[in-house]
Amino acid sequence: MRDRILSFLSERGTLADEQAVEYFLTQADPLGAADRLLRAFQDPPLVITLEDIQRAVAIARAATDRAATVRTRPPAPAAAFAIPASFRETVAPAADVAEDIRVLKDITGHSTCEGTLADFARYFRHRFQTIARILRHRPELAGAMEIARAKKLTRDTAVIGIVTDVRTTKNGHRILELEDETGSVSVLLPAGSSLAADAIVNDEVIGVTGRSNDRGLFIAKSLLHPDLPTSKAFPGTEGHLRVGFMSDIHVGSRTFLADRWAKFSAWACDGDEVARSLRYLVLSGDVVDGIGVYPRQDEELVLDDIYAQYEALASMLHELPDHLKVILLPGNHDAVRPAEPQPALPTAIQKLFDSNVKFVGNPSTVSLHGVRVLAYHGRSMDDFVSAVPSLSYARPLDAMREMLRKRHLAPIYGGKTPIAPEAEDHLIIDQVPDIFVTGHVHAAAVGEHRGVVLVNSSTWQAQTSFQKMHNIEPVAGRLPIVDLHTGEAVLKVF
Ligand SMILES: [Fe+2]
Ligand SMILES: [Fe+2]
Repeated sequence: MRDRILSFLSERGTLADEQAVEYFLTQADPLGAADRLLRAFQDPPLVITLEDIQRAVAIARAATDRAATVRTRPPAPAAAFAIPASFRETVAPAADVAEDIRVLKDITGHSTCEGTLADFARYFRHRFQTIARILRHRPELAGAMEIARAKKLTRDTAVIGIVTDVRTTKNGHRILELEDETGSVSVLLPAGSSLAADAIVNDEVIGVTGRSNDRGLFIAKSLLHPDLPTSKAFPGTEGHLRVGFMSDIHVGSRTFLADRWAKFSAWACDGDEVARSLRYLVLSGDVVDGIGVYPRQDEELVLDDIYAQYEALASMLHELPDHLKVILLPGNHDAVRPAEPQPALPTAIQKLFDSNVKFVGNPSTVSLHGVRVLAYHGRSMDDFVSAVPSLSYARPLDAMREMLRKRHLAPIYGGKTPIAPEAEDHLIIDQVPDIFVTGHVHAAAVGEHRGVVLVNSSTWQAQTSFQKMHNIEPVAGRLPIVDLHTGEAVLKVF
């Protein structure tokens, strides 16, 4: 059947990756499912991935919901997100493997910022210099010159700068203001060119090649983002240990999904071979709903005491099996400073939990058996979605790819994401991770960018009144699971 699926797709000019083929194989009518999927695309991708399928299923479901006169329950999600058989077969019992966690990067205990003007200047200098260094590895930018000098030349040059403004003229041209330590220049991205369509945001560091005209306008020929090396192998642990990802549990909220959590907890304690292969659980922020996070939040809380919220979470985590080590970072609803990088939860709260929970800051880079995991709550997605028209809350992986391209978790300064001007910019992605996880947007997805496994880690909260007002449909109760041997990622539905 595998061969028949592949030849069916190749006859129609497309291919499918391993996970997508596994998905078709789990369907009652694999060829029918592949045919329906192809018809869902206006322009099928060259290689269909599991993410493409999930997107198409979600779109089809939304269309069905809209068409139905009586709103019906969506189809059983388990059918749409079945875990491939191969993922079930290749397991390693996690209880037999000793813990191996190293925190590689975390602000906790290292914050020095006081928020002075000098702090800001130093912070942006560090951002500029660090990302410019990455950019200089690109052959096109090896000879990049200072902006003040490039402005005086009318031959082809290259510059590196921090974007201080992006605007579109009435003729559709885009103009960037680019600044370095020597000066600033207006860069023209011609209307209709692919350059004008690039997702450039304020305060990111980019390279531009082109030449100055006699009016001092720099006409761009190419734009260069630091991005990641084109491909990267997944390091891979010896056995098939797994790590699960969660965020946005929002304990204490009226809309916390206790029944879905109970299903997860029962599965983790007494579940199948996949459950027994789970060695780590990374909780990427908004673990409780918090207090006073937004106006009239008290009306939406069942627990209106912050300690009671964390106590409830502590007892939920206590129920999980001992071999499941929890790594917990805060989000914007948690009880630490909102400015990023956020340190780990304070000791008074840590004391409520047992020793199976490890507390780190947001963001943090943690090595699990040598696999480098970059965990970030994802607040900056609010700023990405409002600054870049092609990005949306429903497709968090696209915003995550932009973060990797820009080598920065939260480039936009002065938006919804508060940023603390630390001596070094902790939000720069200086080391390339193997797994990159975010939460915050209450979506759920797994994917890949240049060899990095991407995870957006769902939520355990139903739609809130705020989300209803903004037409945001959460995707709750999904557990992304990544195999530390292969990097394969699946979504388990509860
Ligand atoms: Fe959240
Ligand atoms: Fe959040």
